[in-house]
Amino acid sequence: MAFDWKSLPRPFSVLAPMEDVTDTVFRRLIASCGRPDVFFSEFTSTDGMFSPGETRVIHRLEYTEGERPLIAQIWGNDPEKYLRAAKKIADMGFDGIDINMGCPVSKIVTNGCCSALIDNPTLARELYLAAVEGAGQIPVSIKTRLGFKKLHTEPWAEFLLALKPPALIMHGRVAKDLSKKPANWEEIGKVVELRNQEGSDTVIVGNGDVKSLAQIDHCHEMYGVDGVMVGRGIFDNPYLFNRDAPHFSEMTRKQKLDLLWHHISLFEDHWSGKKPYRVLKKFFKIYASHFAGASELRMKLVETESASEARALLDSVLETESTESRSAVGC
Ligand SMILES: Cc1cc2nc3c(=O)[nH]c(=O)nc-3n(C[C@H](O)[C@H](O)[C@H](O)COP(=O)(O)O)c2cc1C
Repeated sequence: MAFDWKSLPRPFSVLAPMEDVTDTVFRRLIASCGRPDVFFSEFTSTDGMFSPGETRVIHRLEYTEGERPLIAQIWGNDPEKYLRAAKKIADMGFDGIDINMGCPVSKIVTNGCCSALIDNPTLARELYLAAVEGAGQIPVSIKTRLGFKKLHTEPWAEFLLALKPPALIMHGRVAKDLSKKPANWEEIGKVVELRNQEGSDTVIVGNGDVKSLAQIDHCHEMYGVDGVMVGRGIFDNPYLFNRDAPHFSEMTRKQKLDLLWHHISLFEDHWSGKKPYRVLKKFFKIYASHFAGASELRMKLVETESASEARALLDSVLETESTESRSAVGC
């Protein structure tokens, strides 16, 4: 059945697009812990997709069936490439396309892309319409911020709502603030009010600083958003979307290291020979924390040079643990 933002439960959850994080392996890992209602890809350059260096970006669009519904996020500044990219993404079988109008990274903004579009609505409209044309039947949403240098919430949201996107994802900060200030949920609430006043049927997704399902429920009740997107909260708790699981920090060392083992295996099975092993290392601190000896283990893990070496290290730690627990019960 075709994906439709409107038919999601209320409130629904979304795992945020995060570059170098939310690739197919990470999404599969999170699906195994407890899935959100919607997954996003990392942002993918429309220039990159149609350049000789295509292979350097196209890995961002790899996926497996278990990651659905899955939205591919794109960025760039050329409407013609948006049209071609949207066509290609639709042909690849994605459930939707999202346009990044929020990334604040200076080398990207300097080229008029992403959050720079907040100050260039003419190009924002052209890009959106080109993507809609290329996308055919699949929905095209927009992820953006409350302003570029300062709050511009209502005029910007009014402009975007007039484009009639099926979903608008509002990250509750202006671009200049990067992720430093707390997210401003009052402003996100104003976008919901505007949507309601206009009788628009655009689904509003709020984003910023949410770290639990209870907070998702709270944001829905308090600010009226239909859904909530969660980014960095997943690093504290990979089981965040699982109502029945305890918080990751309360899990045993074995449970944490078993999940790391699984992550390493997924990485090796999928990316071996395609992505360097070192990109996996930034994830180690998720798992090796909140237990005795965690920082020593983390240091040892960081020194490993291959997935098999890391798994052998984990095997030896887990073996010691099971020997200890066997002797503790007198086996
Ligand atoms: C490592 C990292 C990479 C990110 N990459 C993207 C991206 O590719 N596309 C995007 O729209 N936002 C990206 N973001 C922003 C997040 O999607 C999200 O809007 C932001 O982290 C705020 O949500 P949070 O407070 O729940 O983390 C990234 C954030 C982080 C931390």
